[in-house]
Amino acid sequence: MSAEKRVSEYALPHVKRLHAYTPGFQPTGEGWVKINTNENPYSPSPMVEEAIKGAMGDDLRLYPDPLSWGVREEVAQLHELDAKNVIVGNGSDDVLNLLVRAFSTEKESVGFTVPSYSLYPVLCCIQNSSTVEIPFDRSMELPLEAIVKNRSRILFFTSPNAPTGVGFSNESLRALLGTFDGIVVVDEAYADFAQENAVELLGEFSNLVITRTLSKSYALAGLRVGYGLASPEVIEALDRVRDSYNVNRLSQAGAIAALKDQNYMKAIAGKVVRTRDFYYSEFTDLGWFTYQSEANMLFTEPVNGAGESGPAVTVELFEYLKDRKILVRYFPGHTLTESFLRISVGDEDQMLKLSETIEQWLKNA
Ligand SMILES: Cc1ncc(COP(=O)(O)O)c(C=O)c1O
Repeated sequence: MSAEKRVSEYALPHVKRLHAYTPGFQPTGEGWVKINTNENPYSPSPMVEEAIKGAMGDDLRLYPDPLSWGVREEVAQLHELDAKNVIVGNGSDDVLNLLVRAFSTEKESVGFTVPSYSLYPVLCCIQNSSTVEIPFDRSMELPLEAIVKNRSRILFFTSPNAPTGVGFSNESLRALLGTFDGIVVVDEAYADFAQENAVELLGEFSNLVITRTLSKSYALAGLRVGYGLASPEVIEALDRVRDSYNVNRLSQAGAIAALKDQNYMKAIAGKVVRTRDFYYSEFTDLGWFTYQSEANMLFTEPVNGAGESGPAVTVELFEYLKDRKILVRYFPGHTLTESFLRISVGDEDQMLKLSETIEQWLKNA
């Protein structure tokens, strides 16, 4: 056995079994239409660059504020809460990780619906926590009975969901929160593109945690800032298991500036929503079944020029687009996803290029 192999044997069994999260492809080089990772096609608020420049310089010698207190206060003001109801993370992924770390073990499982954000099982595997998968059916309606029956300590529920974009009303979330015996995390990464959000439910349910991100509606995926909203007891538990300096100085400065510029965020999110709704109609007019989306993505089932659909047709279109430098996302290996493409809503030029390329593909079939 080589020395290298022996060293890897020291890894814990669950780490050896772990399949790391597969992020969407990040191409290098010019000319790509990158609509595969639900980023925002527009630039972030100019205030962000100004704030980051202001935070550069000698102060970078110093550690950042461990609590990201300025960001907590800004978030609290935005949602009419107290800063004690807020935790800030290195992206919302960080907050999701803290939730798994604080509330689950091998015996106390994490429940989540499938299909949904594929990071949840990975985070659980990293902590060696057990998992319970609650399947959606093709209707993508809330599987309330199955959720309530499962005995998890903590449940992750994405609303609007990814990859479908389907949103869930507060009425249905109330039913879930009132009956689920454990922590309910509503992952609202896409809430700024939706009609409704669950913030008003925080006052009614102390077991509710909401996670948000600046990666999508604020166009700041590269800054890595997200946050969680919850009762002070839950926030205290999460702070106990948090890395001390989990959000760097530049990110804290940029996040505060972005959160203050709500008009800018609403303007770019509004543009995304209008483009989304236009292309939802385009796809459905082609006869492609497409979920009604409340997020910045469309989940659509392509039909080729011969009227055929299914995984082979979808893969063919995925490759056809990729060969023409258009990147969308494909999730194989699950009956509810393998005939669909997830298309992040791009700007008008990107979407036009997509739609023209789809037309060519349809003619060529
Ligand atoms: C449902 C969901 N939650 C969280 C995230 C991650 O957000 P962040 O960039 O803040 O870590 C994503 C990213 O795609 C997502 O789809």
